[in-house]
Amino acid sequence: MSKLEDKFRELDERNHEASLGGGQERVNKQHTAGKLTARERIELLLDKGTFVEIDKMVRHRCTDFGMENNKIAGDGVVSGYGKIDGRAVCVFAQDFTVFGGTLSRANADKVVKIMEMATKMGAPLIGLNDSGGARIQEGVQSLAGYADIFHRNVRASGVIPQISAILGPCAGGAVYSPALTDFIIMTRESSYMFVTGPDVIKAVTHEEVSKEELGGAMTHNSKSGVAHLIGENDENAMMMVRELIGFLPSNNMEDPPTIPCTDDTSREDENLQTLVPADPNKPYDMMSIIGSVIDDNNFFEIMPHYARSMITGFARLSGKTVGIVANQPAFLAGVLDINSSVKAARFVRFCDAFNIPIITLMDVPGFLPGTNQEFGGIIKHGAKLLYAYSEATVPKITLITRKAYGGAYCVMASKHIGADINLAYPTAEIAVMGPEGAVNIIFRHKISDDEKTAAVEEYRKAFANPYKAAELGYIDEVIYPRETRKKLITALEICQNKSEAGPRRKHGNIPL
Ligand code: HXC
Repeated sequence: MSKLEDKFRELDERNHEASLGGGQERVNKQHTAGKLTARERIELLLDKGTFVEIDKMVRHRCTDFGMENNKIAGDGVVSGYGKIDGRAVCVFAQDFTVFGGTLSRANADKVVKIMEMATKMGAPLIGLNDSGGARIQEGVQSLAGYADIFHRNVRASGVIPQISAILGPCAGGAVYSPALTDFIIMTRESSYMFVTGPDVIKAVTHEEVSKEELGGAMTHNSKSGVAHLIGENDENAMMMVRELIGFLPSNNMEDPPTIPCTDDTSREDENLQTLVPADPNKPYDMMSIIGSVIDDNNFFEIMPHYARSMITGFARLSGKTVGIVANQPAFLAGVLDINSSVKAARFVRFCDAFNIPIITLMDVPGFLPGTNQEFGGIIKHGAKLLYAYSEATVPKITLITRKAYGGAYCVMASKHIGADINLAYPTAEIAVMGPEGAVNIIFRHKISDDEKTAAVEEYRKAFANPYKAAELGYIDEVIYPRETRKKLITALEICQNKSEAGPRRKHGNIPL
């Protein structure tokens, strides 16, 4: 055999060895646990045949605890770049079959390298997490590796979209890399995230809790608000990441992608005329309005299980991505509370960072009263949403469908905090509070029940409508519900070249 052939054969062998990960036995164990391997996940995530793996021959440099005799090519993480719907993305996937996907110095260096490449090239970064955490044999070198990654996450924040999928364990300080990214997707029943696990909790606080209950997908999607989406399994999670990427620009210097729109942009919907009930106390489903007005009824909801009085998600209008923020009158009357404020604030800031226009659909009775809310800091958390909307310079279009009461009116992208186009349905009620509450305060105990009924009616006529605000120019146009889609699309068109700059500063101080 010629010398040249030897060289090619060596490359073949090395490539083959690297592709084996931790070996067939560990791969089988991974499959038995209902999980795919790092490479199988990447295969599903990216367009066929586009993955280019880098650093696959990297090995750790640890010489403690006999590790010098145990080196595996790739060292527990697969990294590289490829395409989603023809657009470049960077990806790293922790390989649980190699040292439990744990983070060594060499492994961290690979992650840092792909993060820096993504940031420099302006490509989204996708991290697939499945790891036992810090590689114990490497001690502080592993901790340093984590901190290096956290630092890169922060540097990349607002520059490129960062998406984390949690597909297995993610515990201890390791949780903070995903937490610093824009979106976290967790797989149902095969992923968990916690800072300290059930055993430590039991020892310290005597609480007994299972891993799933403590840090499973549903916990973080419905209770803690740490995660944004649930995938039924690895494959479903990868499809969700692909779909999400389709709405987003590759970086903060780009506009979001536009796709050809086959849904009639002037389409009217007669059902919308009667969707908002005449009785202001009757609930209705804001999702019906969203579904009716967006392209092809295709709504990609973010955090569907958390703070359900607020809806957030991506859609397209005339083929262009928009972020939708909407009160949900079908859940707690669409009230603003701590969780819904924070949920919406974070979403608004993401949209603003990535040039995604924000459509706000408002039907809000106000902030939720109660000691829980006050002691929990609703003042500070509500201020986050006010802050996020006020600082956002992307096109902001607001439609008031019904209630716009009190401080919540101001907060939910009112004209006064910088919305560009403010629309209202004839059913809108824009006032300091609802008629009954107002009359109770103005007249206290001074009037009879009959007088109260008359006063409520008088208040309703005077204030429970959009026309006072329209007279003052706070509402640009009162529209017929059936023409909502057309009105939103034309509003977006006039905002297309919007340019707005704030005063020079290092950064603002959002009330955290
Ligand atoms: C080195 C580790 C490891 C670790 C797992 N492995 N965790 N090696 N350091 N932290 C290895 C195992 O020895 C095993 O190697 C392989 O990974 C798979 O682990 P198993 O235990 O066989 O798998 P499983 O039963 O599925 O359990 C997975 C696990 C468990 C729940 C993750 O391994 C575990 O509890 N590991 C310790 C987790 C931990 O405490 N990490 C530190 C967290 S603190 P072989 O060769 O047998 O296949 C932290 C700090 C970060 O991460 C700080 C950032 C600032």
